[in-house]
This record gives sequence, C-alpha cells and structure tokens, in this order.
Amino acid sequence: MAEFERHEHDVLIVGAGGAGLRAAIEAAAAGASVGLVCKSLLGKAHTVMAEGGVAAALANVDERDSWEVHFADTMRGGQYLNDWRMAELHARESPDRVRELEAWGALMDRTPDGRILQRNFGGHAYPRLAHVGDRTGLEMIRTLQDHGVHQGMDVFMECTVTRLLLEGGRVAGAFAYDRERGRFQVFEAKAVVLATGGIGKAYQITSNSWEYTGDGHALAYHAGAELMDMEFIQFHPTGMVWPPSVRGILVTEGVRGEGGVLRNSEGRRFMFDDIPALYKDQTADSPEEGWRYVVGDRDARRPPELLTRDHVARCIVREVKEGRGSPHGGAFLDIAWISEKIPDAPAHIRRKLPGMYHQFKALADIDITKEPMEVGPTTHYVMGGVRVDADTQMSNVPGLFAAGECAAGLHGANRLGGNSLSDLLVFGKRAGEYAARFASENAAPSLDPEQVAAAERHSLAPFANNGGEGPYQVQEDLQELMQNQVGIVRTEDDLASALEQIEALQERAANVAVTGNREYNPGWHTALDLDCLLTVSEAATRAAIGRTESRGAHSRVDYPAKDPDWGRYNLVLWKDADGNMKSRREPVRELPGRLTRIIEEQG
Ligand code: FUM
Repeated sequence: MAEFERHEHDVLIVGAGGAGLRAAIEAAAAGASVGLVCKSLLGKAHTVMAEGGVAAALANVDERDSWEVHFADTMRGGQYLNDWRMAELHARESPDRVRELEAWGALMDRTPDGRILQRNFGGHAYPRLAHVGDRTGLEMIRTLQDHGVHQGMDVFMECTVTRLLLEGGRVAGAFAYDRERGRFQVFEAKAVVLATGGIGKAYQITSNSWEYTGDGHALAYHAGAELMDMEFIQFHPTGMVWPPSVRGILVTEGVRGEGGVLRNSEGRRFMFDDIPALYKDQTADSPEEGWRYVVGDRDARRPPELLTRDHVARCIVREVKEGRGSPHGGAFLDIAWISEKIPDAPAHIRRKLPGMYHQFKALADIDITKEPMEVGPTTHYVMGGVRVDADTQMSNVPGLFAAGECAAGLHGANRLGGNSLSDLLVFGKRAGEYAARFASENAAPSLDPEQVAAAERHSLAPFANNGGEGPYQVQEDLQELMQNQVGIVRTEDDLASALEQIEALQERAANVAVTGNREYNPGWHTALDLDCLLTVSEAATRAAIGRTESRGAHSRVDYPAKDPDWGRYNLVLWKDADGNMKSRREPVRELPGRLTRIIEEQG
C-alpha cells in the first residue's frame, strides 16, 4: 500500500459551496469535530456563480407573500413530483436562513425603507429573490466562509474524494488525494455530508464550473445510496452563445426580472406564442400588462419571459429550429429597451445588473444598456441526486448525508430560479445538524485496509494502463454525446443509442492512460473525473429512457404529453450486487390534506 495521511473527524463534509459551508457551520456549532474537503480553493465554489438571488418569502416587497405561496409555487414549478416535506421545510425555513445570513454580515440590496430588497423571478408569484445586484452567490459564500472559519474546522483545499469507505453498510470515511502533490488522504469519520453540487460538466455547453463532475452523486451511488429524478436536468434558457469561448456562461434570469424581453430574428416577443395551461392564469396577455407587473403593479400578471425555465428554454429552441434564431443560434435578450419606459435607464441597468454589464462588455464587446444580448440554453442544474430523508438529509446508507444540488427531492421535475440558494441554506443546515447528531450517537467506525487498498488501486489505475488513449478525448466525446442525445429534447432512439455509446465510453475510460507522476497532473485528475461523469451520464440516460412522458425539464418528442400515471412516480436508480445500474418507479409521497388545501387555495 502507498503512503497516506490519516485524519479523524466526527463529521466529514465534501464540498465547500453554500450547502457544505452551511452544514459545516451547523455541525461545528453542535460540538462535532468537522473536516471540510473541497476540490477547489476555499471561496471559489460554484455557488459564487449564482447570480440573481435567494428565494425566501420575506414579504418585504409584496406583503401578500408567505411560506404557503412559496410552497405552492415550488410544487407547481416541480410539476408535483417534489417531495412535499422538503418543499414545506424549504418554504417555511428559508426566510430565517436569509435573515441569519444578514446577521452574519451579508450586505443585501435594500428597499427604500431599509429592508432586504426582493426581485421577480420565473414561477414565483411575488418578488421573492433577496439579492446583491447580480452577485448574490458571491456574497453568500463570502459571508458563510467568514462565519465558518471562526467555528473551528479543518479545511482541506484542492483535495478530491474518489471513494467513500464503509463499515458493515454504514459510512466510515473517505479516500482522497490532494490535487497539488497527489498525496493520498484517508479521512475517518462517523458521518459524511456530500455537498458537491451538480453534473453540468457531462455536457458541452454548461454554466457550471470545472468542479461539477457529479462527484457526490457518483460517490454515493458506488457506496450503495439510491439516486432519484436523474432524468430532470435543467437547461437555463439564457446562457451566452457568442463568442464560442464563452458559450454557456450564465446570463441571469434577473435580466428578465428587471424587465428584459426575448425576441426572435423578426423582432417578435415569441414568448407570447405559447403559454402553458398550468400558468395561463398568472401570465400577462399583452406587453403592456407584463411591463406593469415589472414596475410593481401587483394586480398585473407576469410577462411570459418569466415562465418557468424548462418552457422558456424549449421556446428558444423552437425559434432557432424554425429559422427565427439569432445569428449564432440563440434568441435576443433585450434590457436596453426599458429606456423607452424609465428615465436614465443605462444607469439603472448598470446598478441592478453590474455583473451582466461587465460580462458582456468584456467578453462580447456588447453594451447591454444599448444593444440586445444573444442568449441560448445552457446546462445549468440537475434536479436529481441522492435520495434522502426530507428532515435529516440522510441517505439509505447510515451516516451518509447529502445536501444542495447533489441531493434530490425539493425541486421535482423543474427547479424555480433562486430556490437553489435557499435549498443550500435550509438543507445544508439540516444536514450538518443531523450528521452531528448521528456522530454523537454512534461509535467511531474502524478502517478497513482492504477498502483503502482498493481505493488506491482505483486511483492509480490510469498510471498502470500503458499505451492506452488519454482521458481528454473520452471526456470530449461524452460531452458531445450528452449534449446532442440527452439534451433538451429527447427521443427513444437517441437515448437508446446514447446508452450504448456510454457503455463503450466506460470501456474506453477503464483503459485511459496518463503519463508522468502524481504531482500537478491534470491528465490524471481528468481520468479520475471520468468515472463520476460516466456514472451520472448513465443515470441521466437510463432515467430519461424510463420516463415515457414529457414533464418539466424532461421532454420526449415520442411522448410529448404529460402522463397522469407518471405524475405519481419518481424514478429511483441503484447499483445491484453485480455492479449494474437498476431502476424502479417509486410512488411520490402523498400530500397531507393541509398542504393540498394550500395548493388549491393558491390556484
Ligand atoms: O439566473 C440566475 O441568476 C440563476 C439563478 C438560479 O439558478 O437559481
């Protein structure tokens, strides 16, 4: 066995974005010794890329808002496949989590009378997103990190976990390597919280940063945890499309929340062409009414640009396919037009959307106060993840918890914008609390040298595969395949062929070779990431084949309608004793009467 460094903690947290930091704060506050491992540098987690805001029914801008309305909006957005208990906890607890963040030093934008300002976002009945311009995630991470480092925790930066360790079916720790020197690290822990974010790097065009290779999903799956809802992958409608080097970078929904409109090459606001039945009652039927909503007429209905992301993304794809797209295959997003409506609009735009202003100026030489942006869908978020208990966030593997994007349940078939940041806070806190409790109630597991040796062999395999191909071509081929065949619009033929190709890529990945040694070796890191990327790609593809209907973010050309029968099931995946991925339908938990009544009351 090669040498490794050994660390012991009550609770090990994998991932230092919003969910991981919030879990670490809570576990440390409960008296647990906490280890926090992150793949990148502390403060650089993908949460910093979250722009438009954090959803919480503070009712600062519209007093009619309440946790009940937020709950009903989240369930409707998720097309009722959400875990109702998670949606309830999320809606009830997010206002306290946002106020707590403010008490810890987050500087939010303010209303004229000094309260936290909230903005409009798609699918939310009232202005609900607390924000800091368009840099909300950055402020959130800064605050959590400042608060967290004073709680007393051991931070291991630039460290990648490659396997979870088990003892008698419960979690016992993790095997990792530090990315700089390639030294192996063994973490012994009574409880582990996965907070690794999403899977966007399985696709060619994504708003996600390099860390998003599905690590938590794959670690949990290989350790015996179940995954759920993996067919639901959110394509944010507005990513940059030009120039090619920045394709996919997020253009916040906050632009549309501040009055930005979508137009096709004919100059027409095509979002008025197709309003889904589920949102007819809430959607404006004229541009005038939509604008009245943006500027605060609470009797007016929302502009169609603020329909849910799944729908807006599909409408853009339709325009492009039917020959009405922008020059580089997207649509035009125009915020400059508001100068027809408000005085000094350029200054207003720069104040409200400073990040977008600089992003387009620096990367595309576009002044968004004067010209429209070119935008198109980008892989943004996975609703699916580790199947967890709603209250505790523990998976079916005792001692293994998951929170944030790598956990399933809250968002159902489609997430509303802003619900991810509140998800991180609410369920990060819960995961930390219950992981600490689990650790206090259970003895320290013992380390199994066989498992450590197996994890080490797995990590070193790319060095032993003399003469094999390098990892980059396999990664690129996978990304192209997922983009083209497991994307926004899906068919049985594409998906079945994608699954065959993924199996072939898995064989190629098992034989990829890297040269050099373990120090500063990005080829080796990529070879190890492939394992996770292929696991989550297989899961997404199998689930997409399984769900023979169209719902939320999952759209099947061959099954274009919603099937009421499928509306009663989530799809669950797990690894069987022979190492094969299996799936089953699992009934959606039945809503209690008190919550059904809330949904009915909210229409
Ligand atoms: O558009 C955005 O600012 C993204 C927010 C989110 O995904 O929640």
